[in-house]
Amino acid sequence: MYFNLSEEHLMIRQAARDFAVNELKPGVIARDEHQQFPAEQVKRLGELGFLGMMVSPEYNGSGMDAISYVLAMEEFSKIDASVSVVVSVNNSLVCYGLEKWGTEAQKQKYLKPLAGGEKIGAFCLSEPEAGSDATSQRTTAIDMGDHYLLNGTKNWITNGSTASTYLVIAQTSPEKKHHGINALIVEKGMEGFAVGPKENKLGIRGSDTHSLMFTDVRVPKENRIGQDGEGFKFAMKTLEGGRIGIAAQALGIASGAYELALNYAKERKSFGKPIAAHQAIQFKLADMATEIEAARLLCLKAAWLKDNGLPYTQAGSMAKLYASQVAMKTTVEAVQIHGGYGFVKEYHVERLMRDAKITQIYEGTSEIQKMVIGREILR
Ligand code: CAA
Ligand code: FAD
Repeated sequence: MYFNLSEEHLMIRQAARDFAVNELKPGVIARDEHQQFPAEQVKRLGELGFLGMMVSPEYNGSGMDAISYVLAMEEFSKIDASVSVVVSVNNSLVCYGLEKWGTEAQKQKYLKPLAGGEKIGAFCLSEPEAGSDATSQRTTAIDMGDHYLLNGTKNWITNGSTASTYLVIAQTSPEKKHHGINALIVEKGMEGFAVGPKENKLGIRGSDTHSLMFTDVRVPKENRIGQDGEGFKFAMKTLEGGRIGIAAQALGIASGAYELALNYAKERKSFGKPIAAHQAIQFKLADMATEIEAARLLCLKAAWLKDNGLPYTQAGSMAKLYASQVAMKTTVEAVQIHGGYGFVKEYHVERLMRDAKITQIYEGTSEIQKMVIGREILR
């Protein structure tokens, strides 16, 4: 067993780190404050190949592995989790879902511009009354022969207004329960498709979260992903990889906060010495460093399993469950180490603390990850 990263992995991590420091850090506080979508930064990420990282070059992707994706997600998330959630949704939910289960025509038409960063995608599962309980889909996609008639509302959709391509999960045959659910590709601009107002959020405020409304939207049959009734399975399988991305996002938020706290603790003095010389502060730093390393290993293990074609449902959920706990705990302690300075925006840690919370909620709450892990270990 080897724990060292390859030359290529180190180069990808360095490229992501440089991008984060040079192009994400400037303006990150203002984007958070004004809830400004990082349009320029996302465009640049597309040009650099970070929006279709794991997609084959045949479809305009970068052909990288999931380990590279985890490394890049950690670096982006250290600085700006509002950007990394766009990277995560586009890569591991939308591009992955289309490449793995889409038809050749769907890949040519939709995957190529998404992987090349010309367009952004959104993944639309959650509804006002179906979040954790995702099989209770109220959105309907009635089979009309050559098309589906889509009606309903999706909630909390990341990239809600900036996306062009939406993967929408909807119920076609309620009598078949989750076996009657389909996944459809919906384009912005289809008649009857409307985007609700932007949500005013606690964290990841630069990201673009909206509800979506569908009223008699005609979606061509060729836009269905997979066989009739396979939409729920599609959503679950796709989310397995998405959870690795969000685990890496949580890891990055934690390691970003830790690095800030470590530097601050070496500089700030109290009682005649740097606060890092007080054992109480050292113990906090020791806990942070240990827990972050454990979270990193869980993320890399899940990615390694995926890269090697091995089952990763349990590993991905463990990584997300643990890394998101570590993100929350580490960021709270990072604010504490900064004292009063941690409570103001210029020092960045308060934003990381607010951003950390979402990693325990989206792509399956911590309680849902425990359900998934529990079912896997009892299987
Ligand atoms: N792979 C394949 N199939 C799966 C699966 C998986 N990982 N997990 C479940 N299924 C299948 C089951 O086998 C079952 O099918 P069969 O009857 O044919 O066997 C079907 O799905 C239903 O599964 P369950 O009976 O286990 O259903 P449940 O209702 O008890 O639990 C759940 C399902 C795991 C809780 C699921 O609803 C879930 O994951 N909920 C969380 C939803 C979620 O993660 N939402 C994220 C939205 S996207 C997002 O959030 C993006 C973002 O923020 C950026
Ligand atoms: P609920 O399901 O109502 O849960 C409420 C509480 O009850 C939680 O603590 C939950 O863990 C707990 N709970 C529920 N059921 C159980 C149970 N059986 N056992 C124990 N505890 C339980 N969704 C998308 O589809 N696409 C997106 O792009 C997307 N982006 C998002 C971005 C943001 C900023 C946010 C806030 C959400 C986003 N979501 C997205 C939705 C997200 O996935 C859901 O919020 C999440 O799955 C939880 O659903 P819910 O909010 O309905 O909470």
